[in-house]
Order: sequence, then C-alpha cells, then structure tokens
Amino acid sequence: NSSRGQGPYIAAIDQGTTSSRCIVFDKDGRIVAVDQKEHEQIFPKPGWVEHDAAEIWTNVQAVVDGAIAQAGLSKSDVKAIGITNQRETTMMWDKNTGAPVHNALVWQDTRTDVLCREFGRKGGQDRWRRETGLPLASYFAGPKIRWLLDNVEGLRERAERGDILFGTMDSWVIWNLTGGVNGGVHVTDVTNASRTLLMNLHTLAWEPKILEAMGIPESVLPEIRSSAEVYGQAVGGSLAGVPVASALGDQQAALFGQTCFDEGEAKSTYGTGTFLLMNTANKPINSYNGLITTVGYRIGDQAPVYALEGSIAITGALVQWMRDQMGLIQSAPEIETLALTVEDNGGAYFVPAFSGLFAPHWRSDARGVIAGLTRYVTKAHIARAVLEATAWQTREICDAMAKDSGVEPTTLKVDGGMTSNNLLMQTLADFLGTPVVRPMVAETTCLGAAYAAGLAVGFWSDTDELRANWKRAAEWTPDMSEEDRADQYRKWLKAVERTKGWID
Ligand code: G3P
Repeated sequence: NSSRGQGPYIAAIDQGTTSSRCIVFDKDGRIVAVDQKEHEQIFPKPGWVEHDAAEIWTNVQAVVDGAIAQAGLSKSDVKAIGITNQRETTMMWDKNTGAPVHNALVWQDTRTDVLCREFGRKGGQDRWRRETGLPLASYFAGPKIRWLLDNVEGLRERAERGDILFGTMDSWVIWNLTGGVNGGVHVTDVTNASRTLLMNLHTLAWEPKILEAMGIPESVLPEIRSSAEVYGQAVGGSLAGVPVASALGDQQAALFGQTCFDEGEAKSTYGTGTFLLMNTANKPINSYNGLITTVGYRIGDQAPVYALEGSIAITGALVQWMRDQMGLIQSAPEIETLALTVEDNGGAYFVPAFSGLFAPHWRSDARGVIAGLTRYVTKAHIARAVLEATAWQTREICDAMAKDSGVEPTTLKVDGGMTSNNLLMQTLADFLGTPVVRPMVAETTCLGAAYAAGLAVGFWSDTDELRANWKRAAEWTPDMSEEDRADQYRKWLKAVERTKGWID
C-alpha cells in the first residue's frame, strides 16, 4: 500500500492508544512507508487502564527506524518530523534518569472519578469550564497528575525538589527524541495542553488558580508551544539531526489532515474512541449541550484556531473487547462479516459505557449495558449492536453540535481504522440521515502532523496547498425511513439511560 513519490519527505509519528506508528509522506500527501507496533493494554482493576511508557518509547524508535528503512531513505531525505498522540494519557518521569515513576494513566482510566467529584464540590462539574472549556471528568490529565502525586510514594517531595516532569505522550516522545537526559526539551503544544483542565483557553497559559486548587506544582509542567514550530532536533536514531517541528493531539491532527481549515468544517475519526471536531475559527465557543471547547491548532505565532468537540470513549475499543475479552470474533474485520449474517440487531442495544459516558452526558458513574435481550438474540445480533453503538453515539454528538453551532451538517467527513467497515459507514449514514465521505488518505492523523511539521519548515507554503491534496475516495448515502430511524433512536436513548448511576 505504499508508493514512493517524489522526495524529499516528512515523517509523522502517531503515538496512539493501541499502537505507535510512523508514516512517511511525500509532497502530495501520499503515503510512502508505514510501520506500526502495538503495545500492551494493562487493566489492573475494573475501570483502570495503563500503558508502560518505556515500552511505548522503545516502540516509537522501532517504528521510526522501520518506516525509514522500508522507504529506503536516509535522514537527509526527511525534512521534518511531526508528532501526534493519544491525548490526556498522563505520565511523569524522573528528569535525571528518564525513568517513568509509574505506568501512564490512560485517558480511558476512571480512577480519578472520586477526585473529580471532590474538586466539583465547589462550583459543580462545570467549575472550570469557562477557563478550560472542559467539565470536571476523569478523562482529562490534571486530576491524573494529582492522583500520581498522592499515590506514588515520595513523588510529591521529588516533584517539589524539581526532579520530576509531567507530560502527555507528545511531551514524552519529544523529550526522548531530542536527547532525553542529555538535554531533551520539555514542551507540549496548545492542543494537548487544552486537554489537561489546567490551561486557560483564552491566555493559552497554565491557570494558576486551578493549579493551586488541584495541588499541582508548576515545576512539573512542560512549556506550552504552538502546534507547528521547530522544538528541537532529533538526537540519535535514523533521523538524527532532523527538526522536530509539530505536535498535535491526534484528533486535532485529524482535523488538520482533513483540511478542515474553515469555520464550520468538521470531521469524525473512528479509532479506539470516536471524536467529532468542528472548526470554530478564532473563537472558543461555549457548549450548552455537553460538548467541549478545545484548541484546534495553532501555527507558529498565528492566532489559535478553536474547535467544538464531541468525544466518545469507546467505539473501536468495543470491537477489540469482543475479540480479546469475549472471544466472539478472531479478528476485528470479522465483526462486519458476522453482523452481515443477520438483517438487524434482533432488538438488542449495546451501550459501551466502559469508561463512563463522555459527550454529551459526562457521567463517570455510568457502566456498559446490553438492553433488549431475549432468547431470539444471537451473537450476530450482538455484532450488529456493537457497530450500531458507534453510529448512535455519533448521532448524539451530531445533534449536540447542531444545537450548539446552529449549523446542520450536510455531510460528515470521516477517517480512521473503522472506516474500512462498509456496514458501519452505511449504518452511520442511515442513522445520521446525511451522507458520509472518506478521503483517499484515511490516515489523516499522521497526515495532519506531517502537514503541520511541513508548514513549520517551509516544505509546504500554506494551507491552500494542503487543501488541494484532499480527494474523495468513498461516499455512503442514507437509506432508511425517517420513521424507522426515529423509532430505533428512541430505543437507543432508553438504553443509554440504563447505564447511568451504576457506580455510587
Ligand atoms: O482523547 C483520546 C484520543 O486522543 C485517543 O485517540 O485514536 O488513540 O483512540 P485514539
């Protein structure tokens, strides 16, 4: 699936929830080489999800070397490296040894639920929404830092002595890539910082009053930089000396890779979770319908571009769970084959509130349910309900987006691994009642990071040049009666209600 175009090239590293990969792109935004490696998902207790950050860094180095070797390139062919990453996943490490102090707490981890409720005792769940654009929820990084400081023995003292650094995965990868203990730079970008609950969306700086309330020493925090600028040069490895020139959270990178540069343009990415982002230009728009406000991207010293986001915790992860934990399928694509053996869901609705419910409900106390079971239901119906869960969750986000923005989307641009599932894409068009389109390069996350890095080093001149690379590959149009859609949506919403209040 790789075709070598005209050099030189840009390399993008995507440190994702289930795997790390490196993709090399040519000037037309075409894929030249890909390498990918999965890492272990660690589930120590119900609701807890961890990653080994040292394993992740080893994998990142391996996939960079792998992709460069596969393309037969030398470092002088690569003009810049872009970074994109799973957001919110929180780690801390010792800056003198480079050793993580604990496994990384993954964005899906719910252990800070109680802490969030405590913080919300004053001011409620929206205590810091005006400053940060976010509700208090276990999803975000700040409370995870606090948990580590409280639960890793001696960590607070070491942090106060100045020995400890915090980072989301962008910071961890950039620090290591630029030399680690030998002068690695400790930075993050505005998009990642906007997911911590610690950055003020308006000033783009850490917010002192929140740091104080959460008990987080500023000395552990990285410097907040733009999403497209040279942070430093790679040290060692097959890209030694190449500028590290972009960082964006993976969902913002996909927005950039889909070239949603104008106000009102939106995309939805289907990975472990699903994240629908709409560009709102230079204004952070407050949501009144359960969405969050986030930084979309910032190129160098240009004005920041904001986005409204609908975040869904579990979509692709549900298919993975059916495979790994339930053993109902052997491989992820089999979910489609199995679902296609039946006409419908047989009355079953599966709400995968495994990490609570994110947008638009924000209920950390929710847990998953399968509703509507009778003896008629087979595993094929469940497979269908699994796919429908992704489509219904998207529908809820689209409804909230339309209410907040006043704009009814006319098409939805999609990308990500799950978009190769035709049945899912058709179901999505049916449940939304709008066409769904996928671009030629479905790897928009890496592409977005490559675009930002390429802009920073002058490889591409402006966003118009990038827009010209976007080409439609597939489109699905709705084929469901209004009545049917409304009836099934009502049942879905009933099932959603049954997930709430499980944890007391
Ligand atoms: O906010 C979490 C998100 O960044 C994770 O994305 O693609 O790894 O599921 P993904």
